[in-house]
Amino acid sequence: MKLFFTLVALAAILQARPVAAQQPYDIHLSWNSAQPHATENTMVIAWSANSATPGIVKYGRDKMLTNSKSVTPEYSQSALIYLHKAVLTGLRPNTVYYYKCGSAAAWSQTYSFKTAPVLGSQHKFTVGVWSDTQDNEFNTEFEKTDSIAQQLLKYPLQFTIHTGDIVNAGSQVPSWIRLFNIIQPVNATLPFMPVTGNHDVDNNASDAGYQKPFSIFYDFLNLPGNKTDYSFNYGNTHFVAISSGHAKGVEEAHRTDWRYGKDSPEYQWLEKDLAAARSNKKITWIIVYMHHPAYSFGWSHVQGWQDRVTPLFDQYQVDLALAGHRHVYERHKAIRNNQPLPQENIHLYPKPAGTVYITNGTSGGSPQGLGGATMSSMLFTSKSKMYNYAIMAIEGRKLTYDVYNQKGEKIDYFEMNK
Ligand SMILES: [Fe+2]
Repeated sequence: MKLFFTLVALAAILQARPVAAQQPYDIHLSWNSAQPHATENTMVIAWSANSATPGIVKYGRDKMLTNSKSVTPEYSQSALIYLHKAVLTGLRPNTVYYYKCGSAAAWSQTYSFKTAPVLGSQHKFTVGVWSDTQDNEFNTEFEKTDSIAQQLLKYPLQFTIHTGDIVNAGSQVPSWIRLFNIIQPVNATLPFMPVTGNHDVDNNASDAGYQKPFSIFYDFLNLPGNKTDYSFNYGNTHFVAISSGHAKGVEEAHRTDWRYGKDSPEYQWLEKDLAAARSNKKITWIIVYMHHPAYSFGWSHVQGWQDRVTPLFDQYQVDLALAGHRHVYERHKAIRNNQPLPQENIHLYPKPAGTVYITNGTSGGSPQGLGGATMSSMLFTSKSKMYNYAIMAIEGRKLTYDVYNQKGEKIDYFEMNK
């Protein structure tokens, strides 16, 4: 019986990946260094192939691609494919680079990316925000996610952040292969910086594997420090990714294995990270992102999770807390000490004295209805089910956030000032 299931899994992987042995696929960029200037002078270019042929990245500041970096692929036992990872270092800040990857037998097309401006830069930059791309009910081949990826390509983005539930079942390797092929046009030019959702971690293990990301998560994504809780700087902004773990670990009050319990290693890391960012004169904004929302509708309004992390957000004046999980778009008044603060204009947060919480909704997973319109903190929630994504722009002390449905129609917007 075990052999039968192994053969079925193998057949699914073979079906998901391209046929040509040396063709690079699932190409994606990220930053994997926790160093403060990593976004200015490094870039990870990762791809998959079906053969062990050594890989090469040819790159440069023009399309002559005069630099090259060799890559020895690693075989992934879980994915049954060869993973390539080229870490480019010594890059110039705020500079466009061109590259292609693969080998003499099969090259990718030539792509480009741009490195971050120097730390503290006040120049405008723009970030794509997506969430819950999971391949469930109406997104079985990531067709909804594909349409949102096409929308994202219309904007002059520098990178994307993803608030989790990247796939519907993290143990299903074909889903990862298929998704990364579909969103390759986005990921090959914009670093992809996700956080784990409950669908991306092991929900069933009763041992130390409980709440751990499925192995493909680390193999594929190359995030800072190869961790699921990480942070990075971009211009004048500090981004912090928080792994909230398994849904039950967050939502059930009696559980004792929640992440971010007071004085847990991850809590201590977060406090230290936020304290350093807030005392850094080059950092204006602190933006955290996590899968489970601290404020949301119905049973998703998770008191225990809220109690664990929001006091740190208050203490270190986190500006924006982005989440996913609930497939509705919700935006709250600024909140401090668990109290929504008064607000006159629903589209403007003029120097808010608290943190603005947003549930990003869904970029592929089935829409779940309407948000918590009756919550005292709620400023905006969509009036109909929809797929969505957001475009966030930061320029000096101004932040704008525009939210679009899958047709590209703007459904919400706001501006925040500091
Ligand atoms: Fe979720």
